[in-house]
Amino acid sequence: MPRKLVVANWKMHGSLASNQQLLEAYIQTLKSLENVDVVVCVPYPYLAQAQSLLASSSIAWGAQNVSKDTLGAYTGEVSALMLRDFGAKYVIIGHSERATAYCESDENVATKFMQAKAHGLIPILCVGETLIEREAGMMEMVVAKQLDTIIQMYGAALFANAVIAYEPIWAIGSGLAATPDQAQSMHEFIRNRIASHDEDAANSLKILYGGSVNPQNAVQLFVMQNINGGLIGRCSLNAQEFEGICRAAN
Ligand code: 13P
Repeated sequence: MPRKLVVANWKMHGSLASNQQLLEAYIQTLKSLENVDVVVCVPYPYLAQAQSLLASSSIAWGAQNVSKDTLGAYTGEVSALMLRDFGAKYVIIGHSERATAYCESDENVATKFMQAKAHGLIPILCVGETLIEREAGMMEMVVAKQLDTIIQMYGAALFANAVIAYEPIWAIGSGLAATPDQAQSMHEFIRNRIASHDEDAANSLKILYGGSVNPQNAVQLFVMQNINGGLIGRCSLNAQEFEGICRAAN
């Protein structure tokens, strides 16, 4: 089985003081876990703090968004090169909370994905359906459209060594995770969709599950063949719970 990847998405939580405590606890509790890759995606202002506290650990860091542009008069935006300046290795792209609250289109998300790749960041592309879409049996169609926008605009080879996170919107922050079978089935669909265009890219891709992962359900999810790890919201804000999830992946 390939090494699992566990990514903490802190969303808009934290302060200099609480981050320091949490990152120090991550370092302590995770240092014995040698068979899992761990990443923490922090709010922009805390990238420098993550860099200085994590540089000598095996935990990587990243951001939760990136501009679709490289440089210029884009007030309030942060470029991929700026993220690289702070040692970021990963960036979350197209999280559903951004799509819903900030009207992020699939086309914008695709361009951000391209920007991240072009500047040496590993994009973590979030895809997933709403509850209404799942109940209507449309979940594969919805996820396919999100993937196909990138494939049509930039080609499937762009997925090489990238990360996709399947995050059903109904499972995010709801306490109701997808079942291992539901997640496995969508992950298989995602890999096959990419493979139908570019098999090498599909094989090099990690597909994470996100949405109410906790230390109790992590093992059942992570044993599934096509689940390569997790994208963790709420439980990443608690060092003990996050350790439990990383331990399950390890
Ligand atoms: P929760 O783990 O809080 O459900 O959040 C998942 C998520 O949105 C990670 O990006």
